Amino acid sequence: MFNTRAAGCYARDSLFTANNHHFLDDPAFQAAYARGVAASAGADPHMEWRVHVALWAAGAAARVPGDFVECGVNAGFVSSAIMQRLGWANVGKRFYLIDTFSGPILAQYSREEIAQGRGRMAEEAMAKGAYVTDLERVRANYAQWPNVEIVAGAVPGVLPSLAIGQVAFLHIDMNCAYPERAALEYFWDRLAPGAMVLFDDYAYFGNHALTQAIDAAAASLGAEVLSLPTGQGLIVK
Ligand SMILES: C[S@@+](CC[C@H](N)C(=O)[O-])C[C@H]1O[C@@H](n2cnc3c(N)ncnc32)[C@H](O)[C@@H]1O
Repeated sequence: MFNTRAAGCYARDSLFTANNHHFLDDPAFQAAYARGVAASAGADPHMEWRVHVALWAAGAAARVPGDFVECGVNAGFVSSAIMQRLGWANVGKRFYLIDTFSGPILAQYSREEIAQGRGRMAEEAMAKGAYVTDLERVRANYAQWPNVEIVAGAVPGVLPSLAIGQVAFLHIDMNCAYPERAALEYFWDRLAPGAMVLFDDYAYFGNHALTQAIDAAAASLGAEVLSLPTGQGLIVK
C-alpha cells in the first residue's frame, strides 16, 4: 500500500496530493493555525490547506479598502487564525462576525439539500454540540482584538440592519445554499475592486446543491468561481 506519510504527501480534509506543502513548516502559519485550534477549545479539524488559502486571501484583502466579514463563524476557527496572522490590532479594519450562534436554520435547506442529507447532518451536528451557542465564549475568544463586531443573527435577514460599508474580505461558511447565495448577492456591490470572496464549502464533497447555487449567483453577477482542490471557492472582485 502507498505510504502517504513516507512519501511526504498531504492527505487530510478530503485532499490528497504529493505537491509541496511547505507552508506547514512556516512558524507564522503554525502560530495562526494554533490560534484557530485554541478558538475551537483545542479541537483540530486538520484543515491546514484550507486555512493556508484563507490566510493568503485575507492577506491580499488587507491591502484592499474595506472591512472584513464572515458569515458562519461558529467557534471562530478560521477568523481567529486570520486575525492572528494579520496582527489584527494593526490592520485598521473592522471584522464583522455573523452567525445565528444557534446553529443552522433547518427551514433554509432546499428540497435538494434535504435529499442530499444536509438537513439530517445539521441536526446530528447540533445534537452533538458541534455548533457554539455560548456567546460569552465567543466574545472571550475575540477579546484580545479591537475592531471586532460579533453579530448574532440569521443571514440574510440580519444584513440590512448592519451598517457595513465597503468590504475587502468576505468569508462565506454557512453550509447551506440559500443564505450563502443571498450573502454573495447582498455584498456584491459593497465589495471593493480586488476584494476576496472565499466560500469554505463551495466544492465540498456531497454539497452539489451549494455549488450549483453559488455558480448561478456568480454567473448572474458576471463572476466566475475558482474551484479549489480544498473544496473552497474563490472570487476576486
Ligand atoms: C461550518 S460552521 C462555520 C465554521 C467557521 N467558519 C469556522 O471557522 O470554524 C457553519 C456556521 O454557520 C452558521 N449558520 C448557518 N446558517 C446560518 C444563517 N442563515 N445565518 C447565520 N449563521 C448561519 C451556523 O450557526 C454555524 O455556526
